[in-house]
Amino acid sequence: MAFDPTGPYNELASLPPTADLQTKPILKECISASRALAELKGAGDRIPNQRILINSIPLQEGRLSSEIENIVTTDDKLFKAAVSKDAPVDPQTKEVLRYRTALKRGYDVLAKRPLSTNLLIGVCSALLDTPVEIRKIPGTRISNPATGEVLYTPPVGEPLIRDKLANLEEFIHIDNGLDPLIRMAVIHYQFEAIHPFHDGNGRTGRILNILYLVQEGLLRLPVLYLSRYIIMHKTEYYQLLRAVTEDKAWEDWILYMLAAIEETARWTCQKVLAIRSLLDSTVEFCREKLRGNVYSKELVELIFFQPYCKIAYVVQAGIAERKTASAYLRELEKAGVLESAKVGRERIYVNPKLLDLLKG
Ligand SMILES: Nc1ncnc2c1ncn2[C@@H]1O[C@H](COP(=O)(O)OP(=O)(O)O)[C@@H](O)[C@H]1O
Ligand SMILES: [Mg+2]
Repeated sequence: MAFDPTGPYNELASLPPTADLQTKPILKECISASRALAELKGAGDRIPNQRILINSIPLQEGRLSSEIENIVTTDDKLFKAAVSKDAPVDPQTKEVLRYRTALKRGYDVLAKRPLSTNLLIGVCSALLDTPVEIRKIPGTRISNPATGEVLYTPPVGEPLIRDKLANLEEFIHIDNGLDPLIRMAVIHYQFEAIHPFHDGNGRTGRILNILYLVQEGLLRLPVLYLSRYIIMHKTEYYQLLRAVTEDKAWEDWILYMLAAIEETARWTCQKVLAIRSLLDSTVEFCREKLRGNVYSKELVELIFFQPYCKIAYVVQAGIAERKTASAYLRELEKAGVLESAKVGRERIYVNPKLLDLLKG
């Protein structure tokens, strides 16, 4: 029977797939993707203050992952909204900020408990800023935003959806001899095909990818710009998901995801190394240029952790009292390391070189 995208796909097969997932091309691509990911992990380990990465990179990943869902904001709005309570914030920017919150929430929970359906419900709730539930009623469809054409209708019926999620959970945890990267690709298709929520499935699924890599020990921090690849190859992303449903085209899908991992691991690794060397040169520069009582390593690290910095952050970090903190930031501006601007009533100090790096 031909696949009907407008009818609920209750025939969705449980995992593992029966197809051969270890074809020669897959295994070959898997090796290079694993190597690139290992390099990224190593580069992350060499950053002295790990918080630097966890604050900035997930914000960018959030912007891209949301853009896949046509939720668009700019870096500037995003960072401003992240630091300033009185900056005007549009709903799209808020939504993107919540992506980082959701990813952090998932990452923190993962440190205590393994990946589970409940964890994903928590992630999606943080993302949408409202408690979400597994879909109880029919009506959810994936359609082409331009033409309105229905591309896929996920399974209907809460017991069935829970059943499929339990099967997915089992697949996530039981070692079946498949390489974790191949498994990640399978998990991503299956989660999207189940589409357990009314909304937020794409983003929750992409957060799940990163958390899964962390769980498997392939990444220590949730830093990988997977969405960057997906957004540059979005038509293919939709086509290949659909082709798994329609034609069991697992090989093409897995190759796509492996290429996404490899390319974005390489790209993120370059970013991490560039951040590292900018940090080193800024430390060096400030040590020479700033008067001895202003310079401290903690202060320089802070403006990397918070590329949009303000006096309160310096105080909170225990570096100085308010008045001195303000003088420190002005010194950094005079030295050309920071640039300042007024946002609402607050003065925000921007680290422009770091921002350029993150944006690129
Ligand atoms: N044919 C398909 N089969 C299964 N999942 C799909 C298909 N096409 C697209 N998707 C997934 O559905 C996501 C969109 O679902 P949605 O719940 O709206 O996510 P979000 O709210 O994060 O936008 C896409 O990002 C993609 O991951
Ligand atoms: Mg959506």
